[in-house]
Amino acid sequence: MQIRQTNKRFHFKKYTNFDRDIDPKQRAWIEVNGEAIEKNVRQLRSKLSKNCQFMAVVKADGYGHDSKVVSEYAIKGGASQLGVATLKEGIKLRSSGVNKPILVLGNLFTKKDLIIAFKNDLMPTISSLRECLICNNIGKQVGLKFSLHLKVDTGMSRLGFESDKFIQEFEKIKSFENISIEGIYSHLSSADEDYPLDPKSSTQLQRVKFNELLKQINVDSDHNIKIHLANSAGMLLNKDFHFHMVRVGLSMYGYSPLAKIDKNLLLKPALFLKVKVAFIRIIDQGVSVSYGGKFVSRRKTKLAVLSIGYADGVPRNLSGKINVIHNNKLYPQVGSITMDQMMVDITDSDEIKVGSTMVLLGSEGDKTISPIDWARESNTIPWEILCSFKNRLPRVQVD
Ligand SMILES: Cc1ncc(COP(=O)(O)O)c(C=O)c1O
Repeated sequence: MQIRQTNKRFHFKKYTNFDRDIDPKQRAWIEVNGEAIEKNVRQLRSKLSKNCQFMAVVKADGYGHDSKVVSEYAIKGGASQLGVATLKEGIKLRSSGVNKPILVLGNLFTKKDLIIAFKNDLMPTISSLRECLICNNIGKQVGLKFSLHLKVDTGMSRLGFESDKFIQEFEKIKSFENISIEGIYSHLSSADEDYPLDPKSSTQLQRVKFNELLKQINVDSDHNIKIHLANSAGMLLNKDFHFHMVRVGLSMYGYSPLAKIDKNLLLKPALFLKVKVAFIRIIDQGVSVSYGGKFVSRRKTKLAVLSIGYADGVPRNLSGKINVIHNNKLYPQVGSITMDQMMVDITDSDEIKVGSTMVLLGSEGDKTISPIDWARESNTIPWEILCSFKNRLPRVQVD
């Protein structure tokens, strides 16, 4: 490309929209391994009985992996339904050609949004009689049945019908002619913390409560209604949590929510976070690095400046607590993580150059750094680490 000079100024405007010229691996990026998702789903499904379905939870853009890629491979692995949080997430999948049932796990409460859900063949989660009535009216207007799932609260105190009113309300809902109840579900609040499972744990109490409600409304007789309760942890804890379908997120992406799991379950992380070395500098002993001077070199130090920071979703409170992998060796991150960059001590390496690729999350050789490690160091949970990665990081599919 040549830039022509006229009137002593460049015609930059003409050339500014060449996003596609930028190599997605030019700075920092996320590699998504679709086959890992497919294999994880296959493996997890092998733990379910033949009739138990697998809903792949692909909300929050597939936990930061790219929901289209995740859905495609989860379906290849045997997922028969998908779970999203918002209308927009559901529509994105529909417009990319996904034709499996999609459940919106978040709450849609306006007629307008419920109509959009209906038109895009997205099943809403219904937590009140009011929303159920709106759906029935929408169905009536077009002479069709609006497919939906009812949610009942058994201890999460988030969405869902109140459990002690549900039986009464279900009686009314049953008489609505223009809805089709595709599922009844609840959500576990602490399954990842209740291991090993104690009969008095809140997870068991939720299951017992859910079972009692189901018995009282006598849904066993209706085989079209799918009953579901388990997230990843619930699914891995015990078969009693499986019912007709499990809704699985974290473990499908390759991470166990439980400290200990079945040794035969070899989940494979699907996400790699990689970054290029943008600059190398050598500093003397006693020189401070980054904002606030929290790190001061104890020796003559070679620093690699990596093009990634908290504006990409790397938590700033991981400053000085993480390592980065290059060629099967770990290098410590030093100084405060800044908005767009972070520094790594590479004094012991002769091979790292400007333009070298380093791995922040994922495996190389026998070294692995997982979002679970980051979560532990930054006092959060791996779900939050995965969902924090911003759109500024291109997602690159690798298989
Ligand atoms: C309602 C619901 N079901 C299932 C899941 C999947 O959970 P996990 O990622 O622990 O498998 C989530 C995730 O937060 C959820 O909100």
